[in-house]
Amino acid sequence: MVGTAGCCSALIIVLCCGPFRTSRAAGTICPKPAVPEDAILVTLHSAVNRTCAGCEGRGSWSRHNPHGNLRSLADGSHLVLSSVTYEDEDNYTCYKDGAAVCSVELMVKDEQQDGSKLFCYHRHPTHNITCHWKPSRQLHPSARATLVGVRLPVPTFYPCTYDSSSEKFTCSVLYSEGSSGRQLFYLCVSSRTTSQLTASLEADAKDLLHVGPPLNVCVAPVENNRRRLRVSWSRPEFWDGLFYHLKYQVLYQVEGSPHASNRTTKEMAFIIPDAVMGRKHLIRVRASEEYQENWGSWSEVAMGVPWSDEAKATLVSLRCGGEGEHPTEDISPM
Ligand SMILES: *[C@@H]1O[C@H](CO)[C@@H](O)[C@H](O)[C@H]1NC(C)=O
Ligand SMILES: *[C@@H]1O[C@H](CO)[C@@H](O)[C@H](O)[C@H]1NC(C)=O
Ligand SMILES: *[C@@H]1O[C@H](CO)[C@@H](O)[C@H](O)[C@H]1NC(C)=O
Ligand SMILES: *[C@@H]1O[C@H](CO)[C@@H](O)[C@H](O)[C@H]1NC(C)=O
Repeated sequence: MVGTAGCCSALIIVLCCGPFRTSRAAGTICPKPAVPEDAILVTLHSAVNRTCAGCEGRGSWSRHNPHGNLRSLADGSHLVLSSVTYEDEDNYTCYKDGAAVCSVELMVKDEQQDGSKLFCYHRHPTHNITCHWKPSRQLHPSARATLVGVRLPVPTFYPCTYDSSSEKFTCSVLYSEGSSGRQLFYLCVSSRTTSQLTASLEADAKDLLHVGPPLNVCVAPVENNRRRLRVSWSRPEFWDGLFYHLKYQVLYQVEGSPHASNRTTKEMAFIIPDAVMGRKHLIRVRASEEYQENWGSWSEVAMGVPWSDEAKATLVSLRCGGEGEHPTEDISPM
């Protein structure tokens, strides 16, 4: 995954050197919503104490939503709320002698997001690019995020969806297999009251390839050999192996030792030639497209102990299970 600059460099690019030279132009990729002029805009949990013209003296307030809770309107002529929540958003009207004299709309606005990065990647060279963004501050329930892909002359807009369990927005960006060059993305977050360009990412298309972890990593002893361990695995998700090929890196270390060794192979199995007799080894594998150097995520840790006379009984249980594919290729480190 590749993550870069937050809001500030986004603005610098937008304002000084990018395709959007002015803030008005930035407004075209992240338009400001039209807010009623007399609306009361407050941030979440702040306090309100307002009145409107004509309500001075002995007025009384009511809110339009009949199911809304009208709370703590202590002072007759003033609309007073102590800690505003999204539930308080409504039109409030002041009545005097039974007649409505003025109305205001109370809106909760979002605070500036900061420091939250945009992560974009794809898992296979034929896949669309996926971008994730996690807000650094609570956003209005009506807030929408849009990813803007900048390719002159016109930007492209991709709506993002919010997942409340991971608290992230996810956007899918059309990617045409083989397209290369710089990709420039902005994230625009907008609600009824505010909009902000919150994050940006500039990256080379090829650096966005982020291969998933190899699956079913399995370690088995090599019979009659006290220094060897056989590691095998399955391809990461989405790699059918038909056109694009992978290389793998195997990282291994004796449990408790700070020193780790690694080897690279194009096969889906590897024999560790220099395991330590009788010791438990921790092994992880990761993958990269064969001509690239951006390694994907590490697999889960697998464990194994080399063969020994004494431990025969336990070795049986350490054999790789029968589930799924197990490679039969020759084992030859690169
Ligand atoms: C609201 O503001 C008015 C005028 O400034 C003030 O007299 C009143 O005490 C305030 N009410 C509360 C509850 O703070
Ligand atoms: C308040 O009134 C305006 C104008 O009638 C309307 O557009 C808006 O949706 C109302 N707001 C709420 C929260 O009901
Ligand atoms: C790729 O993204 C585009 C635009 O977001 C979408 O229309 C298309 O369905 C996506 N393709 C796949 C295979 O997900
Ligand atoms: C793999 O080993 C090389 C030296 O053989 C070392 O420079 C590199 O940092 C190692 N990589 C990892 C991920 O440990």
